[in-house]
Amino acid sequence: MTQAKIIDGKAFAAELRAGVAADVAVLKEKHDLTPGLAVVLLGDDPASQIYVRNKGKQTLETGMRSFAHHLPESTSQAELLALVESLNRDGEVHGILVQLPLPEQIDEAAIIDAIDPAKDVDGFHVINSGLLATGGAGLVPCTPLGCMLMLRHELGDMSGKKALIIGRSNIVGKPLAQLLLNENCTVTIAHSRTGDLAAESRAADILVAAVGRAEMVRGDWIKPGATVIDVGINRIPAPEKGEGKTRLVGDVNFAEACEVAGAITPVPGGVGPMTIVCLLRNTVTACCRQAGIDEAALHG
Ligand code: GUN
Repeated sequence: MTQAKIIDGKAFAAELRAGVAADVAVLKEKHDLTPGLAVVLLGDDPASQIYVRNKGKQTLETGMRSFAHHLPESTSQAELLALVESLNRDGEVHGILVQLPLPEQIDEAAIIDAIDPAKDVDGFHVINSGLLATGGAGLVPCTPLGCMLMLRHELGDMSGKKALIIGRSNIVGKPLAQLLLNENCTVTIAHSRTGDLAAESRAADILVAAVGRAEMVRGDWIKPGATVIDVGINRIPAPEKGEGKTRLVGDVNFAEACEVAGAITPVPGGVGPMTIVCLLRNTVTACCRQAGIDEAALHG
C-alpha cells in the first residue's frame, strides 16, 4: 500500500507569510501605510488566549500593527458594541477580529453585524457571506480560504471532482462549500443527520472533515487516492506520554487515512497555520481596499 503525501501546512504558510510581509513592506515604503489588525478577546479561555497571542505575534512579524483588546468575561453587550464601533472609526485599524465563542450574555450575531464589513477580516458578516454566495469580492473566512489554497496547490484544476464537507458551520462548512462550488466541484455537505456518512465519504475525491470529533473519519471511509483536509483540532488523553498528558488529533484517524488517501493534512501542522496566514492576507486585502490601492500591483 502506498502512503499518502503529507501536506505541510506549516511550510506552505511560512511561504505565504513571506509574501504578506513583502506586500506590507511595499505598502509602508510606497504608500506610507501600515496595515493594522485589532483582535478582541473576552475572558480567559486558555485555548483562545493561545490563538490570540499567536495572531498578534504573526501580525507584528509581518510588519503590521497589532491592537490587542483583552476584556473581562463579564463585559456587557453595550461595552463590546462600543469597542467595535470605535474600532470601525479608527483609521489605523484595517481589520477587526472578535474571537469566538463569546460569553453567553453576548449576542454573537449582533456583534458580527456591528463590524464594518470592509474591516471584517473573518468574513463572518452577512454582507461578506452574501458576496461569497453570489460571486462578489468580499472578505472570505480564513479557515476555508486556507483549505482552498492547499487544495489548489495539490490538485490544480478541481472541476468535476466530488467534494464532501463533513460539518455545516458558518465558520467552515458553509463558506467552504461555496468556494468549492466556485471551483466547479460537485459539493455535498454532510452533518449529524446524514444517513450513511461512510458511504458519502467513500464517494469523495476531496474530503474535508470539520466537525470537532476526534478521529471520527476512519481509513475505510476514504476513497483510495482522495485528498483529505482535516480541520479538526481535538485534545485527547495521551497516557503513553505520562499521567494527565494530552495530545492533539484531528477529525480523521490519521494513521489509517495515510494508508488510503492520496494526500492528507496533519494535525497539528496542516490547516491551523494556514488559517492564521489567511487572516494576515485578509488584513492586507482590507487595508488596500480601504485605501484604494491595487493589491495585485504590490507584488508586481
Ligand atoms: N474561534 C475559532 N476560530 C475562529 C475564527 O476563525 N475567527 C474567530 N473570530 N474566532 C474563532
